[in-house]
Amino acid sequence: MIGRNMGTSLRMIRTFAMLAVFAGLALAAGRVAADDAPKPWVAPDDAKKVKNPIPATPENLAAAETLFVDNCQLCHGEKGMGDGPGAKTIKVKPANFTDKALMSQETDGSLFWKMSTGRGPMPPWKDDLTEKERWQLVNYIRKLGKDAAK
Ligand code: HEC
Repeated sequence: MIGRNMGTSLRMIRTFAMLAVFAGLALAAGRVAADDAPKPWVAPDDAKKVKNPIPATPENLAAAETLFVDNCQLCHGEKGMGDGPGAKTIKVKPANFTDKALMSQETDGSLFWKMSTGRGPMPPWKDDLTEKERWQLVNYIRKLGKDAAK
């Protein structure tokens, strides 16, 4: 009796393990496809709703400028137009933060989520930058958009 039950659960474990492998393969395939023809990148609704707790004070913007120059400018470019020197080496174009159509679709929360999570060549920053630093960068990205519109 016990033996048969154990056999059943072992089979179930094997089945689950195989399903997990297939799910992993499907995810990997999805990622490769995303690199070839980027699908629109949309943050989850919960993330979109999160409000920016960091005000765009001169101090916070100055801190963010340093972070941007050190970590983001290579791809996103000095003025955030997605034209940094690193942009030439990757297939997916870095986002242009001065693109009004793109930026008006994004909430502060979705920009925060995207820079935290990453996609394809866009690195995830959640382990390298603190939450405060990432919110400061959201403000800086907004400032780049405003500067370009001047
Ligand atoms: C190696 C190049 C690279 C670096 C470095 C990089 N990015 Fe990106 N970034 C990208 C690419 C490429 C995309 C577009 C990804 C896509 O659409 O799949 C992107 C997209 C984004 C987006 C999403 C824009 C949108 O509305 O869809 C944000 C926000 C962003 N980057 C912020 C940052 C910040 C902040 C930094 C620095 C801390 C940074 N990135 C560093 C390449 C880079």
